[in-house]
Amino acid sequence: MSYTVTLQPSGHTLTVGEGETVLDAALRQGIVIPYSCRGGNCGSCAGKVLSGSIDYPRGRPAGLNAADEAAGQAFLCQAQPTSDLTVAVRELKAGADIPPRKLPCRVVKIENLAHDVRRLYLKTPATHRLQFLAGQYIDILLKDGRRRGFSIANAPHDDELLELHIRLVEGGHFTGFVFNELKEQALLRLEGPLGQFYLREDSPRPILMMAGGTGFAPLKGMLEHAFHLGIERPIHLFWGYGLGATCIWTNCPKHGHGNTPTSTTPRSCPSPPPTIPGTASRGSYTKPCCERIRTSACSTCI
Ligand SMILES: Cc1cc2nc3c(=O)[nH]c(=O)nc-3n(C[C@H](O)[C@H](O)[C@H](O)COP(=O)(O)OP(=O)(O)OC[C@H]3O[C@@H](n4cnc5c(N)ncnc54)[C@H](O)[C@@H]3O)c2cc1C
Ligand code: FES
Repeated sequence: MSYTVTLQPSGHTLTVGEGETVLDAALRQGIVIPYSCRGGNCGSCAGKVLSGSIDYPRGRPAGLNAADEAAGQAFLCQAQPTSDLTVAVRELKAGADIPPRKLPCRVVKIENLAHDVRRLYLKTPATHRLQFLAGQYIDILLKDGRRRGFSIANAPHDDELLELHIRLVEGGHFTGFVFNELKEQALLRLEGPLGQFYLREDSPRPILMMAGGTGFAPLKGMLEHAFHLGIERPIHLFWGYGLGATCIWTNCPKHGHGNTPTSTTPRSCPSPPPTIPGTASRGSYTKPCCERIRTSACSTCI
């Protein structure tokens, strides 16, 4: 049995099939709801049920507490409707219109960037090179039908290989496989390009970038792209990372065209890359980064 789900405030309607989550149905029908873990942990996909009912076949998501659930909050990556439904949720505007494709790819090179970060270079068949916008991501398609998202860390002009930075997640099914079993020359399947996170080239405004850990991957692609195009808007980069991650900068964007990002880690501002040692401890970088932004020249960006 399928149900109709109405999203507010957009008024978009979705048909959600038997056993399907609201998020899966939305993505299938081209409606982009924010998400990250797709496992009920992070809360990125949270919405509020305004009418109708839902069920969580795998139990209440780990990241959703009972009080929020009682107040109507729902994690749409796990929620399946049990009636027609109206949900208040933030939607992302579609902008990137390169149609995603499913392709095989070969792992041509694996490198260690840090004790818990590996760089993979993937090659799609010569006749099916993947077109993408700087900052987009791909899904790796697993044999059991699950998928795992990773940002593309290189720029479109340099697209012979796709570069991914993969952080090992404790107990992680796919990232554990990457660290323990995956070998060069192995074949994987991917779908891409995906996502609305890409460099807006036509804006005249300064660019403010902020990332923690491997969140730097899509920003690296955007920086390489910006330098390739000769974009001269000021770029401010805030990147929090742990000890040992500095080598990610080794192949980082060349500072051509007179543009160099102002870069900082939360605890070693300001000094330009690649000389910054990774000094930040593990944990959230958002708060110290926001503090830096408020007190620095790039507060004019926001
Ligand atoms: C658009 C997008 C781009 C991404 N880009 C990158 C990237 O460039 N580099 C990178 O290292 N990672 C990236 N990620 C995160 C990456 O997809 C996950 O780390 C990966 O799917 C984990 O897979 P796994 O099978 O090893 O873990 P699983 O076996 O699926 O999960 C193990 C445990 O970790 C939790 N978990 C898994 N992923 C997340 C998450 N994202 N947030 C919170 N908890 C989580 C699970 O709920 C579970 O408890 C990206 C995610 C998205 C959605
Ligand atoms: S996407 Fe993380 S909880 Fe739904």
